[in-house]
Amino acid sequence: MVRACLDVAEVPISVKVRLGTGTGPNTALEVAQRLEKEGIYRICVHGRTLKQRYSGLADWEQIRDIVDGVEIPVIANGDVVDSASTKLCMDITKSAGLMIGRGAIGMPNIFYDIKRDLGWNISPPPWKEDNPAVARLWCWKRYLDISKQVYGEKMNKNIKRHAISFTKGLPGASAMRVQLHSVTTQEELGKRVSQYLENLNPQELKI
Ligand SMILES: Cc1cc2nc3c(=O)[nH]c(=O)nc-3n(C[C@H](O)[C@H](O)[C@H](O)COP(=O)(O)O)c2cc1C
Repeated sequence: MVRACLDVAEVPISVKVRLGTGTGPNTALEVAQRLEKEGIYRICVHGRTLKQRYSGLADWEQIRDIVDGVEIPVIANGDVVDSASTKLCMDITKSAGLMIGRGAIGMPNIFYDIKRDLGWNISPPPWKEDNPAVARLWCWKRYLDISKQVYGEKMNKNIKRHAISFTKGLPGASAMRVQLHSVTTQEELGKRVSQYLENLNPQELKI
């Protein structure tokens, strides 16, 4: 499958894998080396097997074995949620980069926050003030713009779920979400969540 992609692609091809299926022998390193030989540009490894789904912890040591066993860049993935886990994961795996999945859901500013907290050289964020409430609101509004581009006036069936993610753990969020049940248009829903985020007091936030 990878060879077929490489044959026709005019751009570099990266591959994302788990640590094998978790049923037979562990072939994660062997698979990575075979992919490297085929000519992929880089490989992203989620440190769990298929069988594990999301149980247990991502095995960053095994990702390190793959980093040591190939020449191409390895991107480590699994359980990175903040600057502390970023640092630890990069220290253990020695990976060329990281991929973040669940930690970015409802909190896309996580990428900026981590780079800022680790003192990496980055350009300023698009939101005006570096406080969590302002960042969250900016991201929610951007989400609404993209949602509109994708769905137009049609209802984005994921919008309520995403509204929950964007407000998870914030003060008064549960009460605000109850009110969303009766909302029928995405415009109204977008507005309600925006108003809620606008009225948050950044001092109260520990996000
Ligand atoms: C909603 C959702 C959708 C995902 N879709 C894919 C996918 O299409 N392909 C894939 O390789 N991994 C997919 N994943 C797995 C993530 O890319 C990632 O490997 C996994 O969540 C572990 O990283 P995390 O601990 O940062 O979440 C998905 C994960 C989530 C939560």
